[in-house]
Amino acid sequence: MCGIVGYIGKKEVVPILLEGLSKLEYRGYDSAGVAVCQDGKVTVRKNKGRLSVLEENLSVKKISGTLGIGHTRWATHGEPNDVNAHPHENTAGNIAVIHNGIIENYMKLKEWLIEEGKVFKSETDTEVIAHLIDYYFEGDLVLAVQKSVAKLEGAYAIAVISKSNPNQLVAVRKDSPLIVGVGKGENFVASDIPALLKHTRDVYFLDDGDIAILTQDDIKILNEFGGEVKKEVFNVTWDVKAAEKGGYQHFMLKEIYEQPNAIKETLSPRIDNEGNIDLNEINLTKDDLKEINKIVIVACGTAYHAGLVGKYAIEKFAKIPVETDVASEFRYRDPFIDKNTLFIAVSQSGETADTLAALREAKRRDAKIIAVTNVVGSRISREAEDVFYTWAGPEIAVASTKAYITQLVSMYLIALDLGLKRGTLSKGKYKSVIKELREFPDKAEKILNNVSPIQELADKQFNNQSVFYMGRGIDDYVGREGSLKLKEISYIHSEAIAAGELKHGTIALIEEGILIIAVATQEHLYEKMLSNIKEVKARGAYVIAIAKENQIEIEKTADKVLYIPETINELTPILSVIPLQLLAYYIAVARGCDIDKPKNLAKSVTVE
Ligand code: F6R
Repeated sequence: MCGIVGYIGKKEVVPILLEGLSKLEYRGYDSAGVAVCQDGKVTVRKNKGRLSVLEENLSVKKISGTLGIGHTRWATHGEPNDVNAHPHENTAGNIAVIHNGIIENYMKLKEWLIEEGKVFKSETDTEVIAHLIDYYFEGDLVLAVQKSVAKLEGAYAIAVISKSNPNQLVAVRKDSPLIVGVGKGENFVASDIPALLKHTRDVYFLDDGDIAILTQDDIKILNEFGGEVKKEVFNVTWDVKAAEKGGYQHFMLKEIYEQPNAIKETLSPRIDNEGNIDLNEINLTKDDLKEINKIVIVACGTAYHAGLVGKYAIEKFAKIPVETDVASEFRYRDPFIDKNTLFIAVSQSGETADTLAALREAKRRDAKIIAVTNVVGSRISREAEDVFYTWAGPEIAVASTKAYITQLVSMYLIALDLGLKRGTLSKGKYKSVIKELREFPDKAEKILNNVSPIQELADKQFNNQSVFYMGRGIDDYVGREGSLKLKEISYIHSEAIAAGELKHGTIALIEEGILIIAVATQEHLYEKMLSNIKEVKARGAYVIAIAKENQIEIEKTADKVLYIPETINELTPILSVIPLQLLAYYIAVARGCDIDKPKNLAKSVTVE
């Protein structure tokens, strides 16, 4: 949610801010703005709409300077318009602030600041920060920021510039991501690494409460108590191209095509030459394993769907009861968790507010915590005891694809490892599943080499008002992910149901021509799925089935079949999701949707 970039150095700041913001647009894109400090004043330009609107504005009304901040917004308080766009200023317009997060007590602060004579222009929570800093400002910007954040409740990553401090950029974080980029004769702040990659690969990860004070040649970081902290520089090894489209029409398509490699990247470091899993990042001793009597997997959205497959895999291979819950529900249901619970948080970004809060709740209750995440140095990775990185590489498209597939692979690796260590999985089965997993990069590639049947279907089916996904067992979980992909990028209403539930209500909605996607990969559930397909067909539905290559007789029942390569039942989700991702993608293309920036969504959901 919301992207932040800040720069102090010798170069013209506006192009640096705009370029950085273009890499962060996935975080929010309903408005954008910059503030630049130069010639004894702070100048703000901001516009409703995509970054291109701001670029246009700045190309006409140019501003110049070497210190500035930029923001791309995902609205929380106040509709997306020019006034509510960031940066926000104090009444005199000499302090400018950008913010990602939510200030929960802003109404109280606003009332008090109005009584103090401050004049508010916007409906945002952020504007109180600018007025607060102004209220406390007596010549020392850092002190004013420190006093202001002491008054704030909620989550924030903030960057501030002031006319009175033309050689200083101040940034602070609590519960919202913020990193500091280390340059030579220039320094940066940003919400995320891609914004900085063009300029530096050396970054500091700020901790909650840290204040970073940047000048051209120096970076000082203070903790929440005002003490100076020395941090290790983290060197980012990503290929710059990983965060660029590289000839694909959309990041989403590029990321779908990166999946074979992403699977490899997740598997290779964890499988040794003898074909055994070595999860040295998870420190579960034999004694720990004996004590664990329950596993709780918590996540949001797509990551939650990976968690559902994780439940299946762990229960199947390791025979431990697993609960999978959505993070926003988990923490408010007084969950039954104690020191014998293993808690697994799954999060691509590692910054999702609900997942983080759930993790903290589990920690408070003494559970052992593992994070499965894609982003090194993310909040969730730093608060968990053990971290299992999914190594999908940067995922830019809002709709998650390669991160999801690597979350699935991670879940299987954890399940297999637990199964062997607990003695609930025979060495033979363990070896054969690992052998099969290693074939998956090629099998995924095979699906990606034959997308035209999917494209053709999308071109015929893109006008549906409503689409239903159905499946049984793990196929149901994959259907849920397919359904989420479709709704978020194509805006078609869609629902996923356990096929057996059909008759208990949803069948009332099945009528002539309605599209049903039936995921039917599980041999032991195959006949039952055929019956479900017949039931909806009898009511006029058009059925696209997803099946394994050897299940060709399904062609007699379904209208169209998309095949995945033959594999063992337990592992099908890693393959069967790919045609569903592609179908959603091509339907959205046919509908002319803005696929990488779906409306109302943002990549990393750092507010509750
Ligand atoms: C959907 C999607 C979201 C995320 C969810 C959790 O395509 O990407 O549903 O999966 O917001 O995000 P992370 O994994 O970053 O915690």
